[in-house]
Amino acid sequence: AATGKGNYRHFMEKELHEHPAVLGDTLRQYLDPRTLEVNLPRLPFDPARVPRITMTACGSAFLAAQVGRYWIEQLARIPVDADVASELRYRDPPLAEGGAAILVSQSGETADTMAAMKLLREKQQSILSVVNVPESSMARESDATVLTVAGPEIGVASTKAFTAQLAVLACLAIGLGRARRELTTLDEGVLTKALLEVPHKAAEVLEQDAQIKALAAEVASARDVLFLGRGALFPIAMEGALKLKEISYIHAEGYAAGEMKHGPIALIDNQVPVIALCPSGPLYEKTLSNLQEASARGGRIMAFTDAAGAPGLARFAERVIVLPEVGVFAQPILYAIPVQLLAYHVAVLKGTDVDQPRNLAKSVTVE
Ligand code: G6P
Repeated sequence: AATGKGNYRHFMEKELHEHPAVLGDTLRQYLDPRTLEVNLPRLPFDPARVPRITMTACGSAFLAAQVGRYWIEQLARIPVDADVASELRYRDPPLAEGGAAILVSQSGETADTMAAMKLLREKQQSILSVVNVPESSMARESDATVLTVAGPEIGVASTKAFTAQLAVLACLAIGLGRARRELTTLDEGVLTKALLEVPHKAAEVLEQDAQIKALAAEVASARDVLFLGRGALFPIAMEGALKLKEISYIHAEGYAAGEMKHGPIALIDNQVPVIALCPSGPLYEKTLSNLQEASARGGRIMAFTDAAGAPGLARFAERVIVLPEVGVFAQPILYAIPVQLLAYHVAVLKGTDVDQPRNLAKSVTVE
């Protein structure tokens, strides 16, 4: 049942393998596969008129919020701020009259996110939460909630709840885009189709477990690891780094590939694996040239890409893992899976307590 590990060694491994089912369940909740339309619960604000959205969360949920920000700005043309809750709550930001806030949380109990919600409410923002636990404080106290359908998540480091958050935020971005007349029915169909392909492509990614395990064997001996991505893949690079830090205790940083030249490039030598998220798409060439710079300085490039992106990377990367093709819009969801899987395998190789990493808690209900 939901509380057992089944045939898996750790809850985290079990939960990683639940990605396809969880993504399917969550997407089915908010989009219709026949009409290719998004159906969201009633929102507490009028998307056509909302002047600005503030997104806030902690940990991996914050990284999901950052992807959400890219999507909402791109598809709905609504300005979005994204801030970690522990900063937002003390920053006293000027908030737009009639503005809205989107909180993202697996547990719905994180103290900093709850405190940020209180502040946002005091500032008369309408509050929408994206939460996995329907009976949680956050779900109860928000003006409206869009639930992720991830089921119970036991592993302390979030996995399936994170991709479910992305799935919900993707649907939300499409819904907002439509309400603002930024998207045509045709656009909506293209985007929802890309999303609907994610669950079975996620299953294909999981079939590449052996390759990712082999990559983990190379990463496990590193002292520092750099994850790079651009656009909506940048927060996924940060998720890869966060997950690796959390469960394997290896120092890792997630960086916007174009920003590498302003700092992290100084760290690069032949001891530092550079994990690149570089699918084909409008930013492919830009990321590729950042990676070439890293490679020219001795960096060991380990790239995740797709069939179209592979030949360019194969010229200089030490390892290229070819993931299934998926629409550009859905790439962040699919690429989250191998970076989480990589962290899992590295942690297993290092013999850490994967499900209960030191100093971390599943739900941080104190400040
Ligand atoms: C803890 C967990 C993380 C999680 C974060 C936010 O730090 O270890 O995996 O992302 O809390 O939790 P929430 O329940 O608000 O998503």
